[in-house]
Amino acid sequence: MSKLLIEGSRKLRGAVKVQGAKNSTLPILAATVVTEGENVIHNCPCLTDIDVSIRILRYLGCSASRHGHTLLVNTDNMTDCHIPNSLMREMRSSIVFLGGILARFKKARLSFPGGCELGPRPIDLHLDALKKLGAVITEHHGEIYCKAPKGLVGGTVALAFPSVGATENIMIAACLAKGTTIINNAAREPEISDLADYLNKCGAEIYGAGEGTVVIEGKEKLHGVAHTVIPDRIVAATLMSAAAITGSEIYLEDIMSTHLSAVIPVFEEAGCNISVKEGTMKFSSPERIKGLKLIRTNPYPGFPTDAQAPLMALSTVSRGITVFVETIFENRYKHIGEFLRMGANIKAEGRVAVVEGVPELYGTSVEAMDLRGSAALVVAGLGAQGTTEIDTTKYLERGYEDLDVVLSSLNASVKKI
Ligand code: UD1
Repeated sequence: MSKLLIEGSRKLRGAVKVQGAKNSTLPILAATVVTEGENVIHNCPCLTDIDVSIRILRYLGCSASRHGHTLLVNTDNMTDCHIPNSLMREMRSSIVFLGGILARFKKARLSFPGGCELGPRPIDLHLDALKKLGAVITEHHGEIYCKAPKGLVGGTVALAFPSVGATENIMIAACLAKGTTIINNAAREPEISDLADYLNKCGAEIYGAGEGTVVIEGKEKLHGVAHTVIPDRIVAATLMSAAAITGSEIYLEDIMSTHLSAVIPVFEEAGCNISVKEGTMKFSSPERIKGLKLIRTNPYPGFPTDAQAPLMALSTVSRGITVFVETIFENRYKHIGEFLRMGANIKAEGRVAVVEGVPELYGTSVEAMDLRGSAALVVAGLGAQGTTEIDTTKYLERGYEDLDVVLSSLNASVKKI
C-alpha cells in the first residue's frame, strides 16, 4: 500500500492544468448504456473510480478502453443486466448504472453500492423515482431486483432532497422511457448539466438541466457521440487551498469560474487575489490568510461539501476563527482527528466544527480515511513544518490523478512511497 511523504512549508509556483471532473465522467460512462454505436469521451481523469466504471461496462459485455485521457465505449454488445456485489461495493456511483440498464433491458439486478463512509448513504430516492417511471423493485438478500416488463413510462418525480446521483439516474432512465418525465427539486450541479449536454448530443431531449426542474422527452433510441468532460471544480478548490496554505502564487489552467462561484469569494474574503482570464486562473495568497468566517455546505450553487475538508485544512492556520456547518453528509469530519495530531485547534460537535487558527501545523504521521479527507491532509502537510506521512493513498487515487506529480510540478516536495 502506498504512502505520501510531504516536506511542508515550500512555496508553490508555476502552472498546472486541472483534470477532468470525476463526478461528470462517472455518470456519462453509465449513460453510454442507453446509446448505440461508438462513444468517444475526452478529458477523463485516470482514477481508480473510473477504472471501476470501465470494469462494470466490460462485465456487462460492452467494450471500453482507455487511450490516455480518452475513453472509447461501445455498448452495442451489452448482454448482461446484472452488476456483481464485488463491483458494486467498490464505489457508490455504481448505482447510477441502474437507470440505464433498466431502461435498456427492462430489468436489472444490482446489490447495494459501497464508497467512502460518510454516514448513511441510502438510495431510497433513486429507487422511489424509478418506481414513479413504472419500475417494480424488490429487495432480496442484499440485492435489488428491478423490472419494467413493458418498458419505463415517463412521470413526475419530486425529489425530497436534490440528490445528485438520483437526478442522474432518473435523467438517464427517462431518455428511453415512453413520454415525458419531469424532475422537480432536481440537483443543479454542473456535472448534471454536463451529463445532459452529453445525452442531448446523443439525441436525447433534456430541458432545464442545471435548474430545479428538468424535463426529459423519451426517445426510441440514442446514438454514441464524442464529448469532452468539464474540468473538476473540487480539484481546482483543492489546488487553491494548497496555494493559500503555502502563501503562494500559481496558475490553474482549464478553470470554469462559474462552477466555483461559491468557492472563489471565500478565498477572496480570506485575502487571496484571484483573476480568471480565458480559462486560466491566477491565484495568489498572502503569507497567512484571515479566518474564513462561516462555511456552510449546501447543494449547488451553495458551497460544495466536497471542498469542505480541503478548506478546513487551510483554516487551521488562518488568522482567526472559522465555523463549518456540514449539511449534506452526517459523518464528514474524520479528518479533524488527524488535523489535531498536527497541532490544529478544532472543536466539533455533530455537524458543526469551530476552527481557531494556529500560527503553524507540524508534520507527523496521519491516516487518510476518505477521498476528500485525504486531499485535506495533503493540503495540511504542504503548510506544515517538517515531514507529514499520510498513510494510504488509496482514497486519494479515487479522485485525484497523480496529485504527487501535479504538486511536485508546482515545486512542492511530495513523494509517493
Ligand atoms: C455526489 C458526488 C459526491 C458529492 C455529493 C454531494 C458523484 C459521483 N458524487 O454524490 O462527490 O459529495 O454528490 O454533492 O457525483 N440521499 C438520500 N437518499 C438517496 C440519495 C441521497 O438520503 O437516495 C442523501 C445522502 O445520504 C446525502 C445527500 O442525500 O446525505 C446527498 O447525496 P447525493 O446528492 O445523492 O450524493 P451522491 O450522488 O452520492
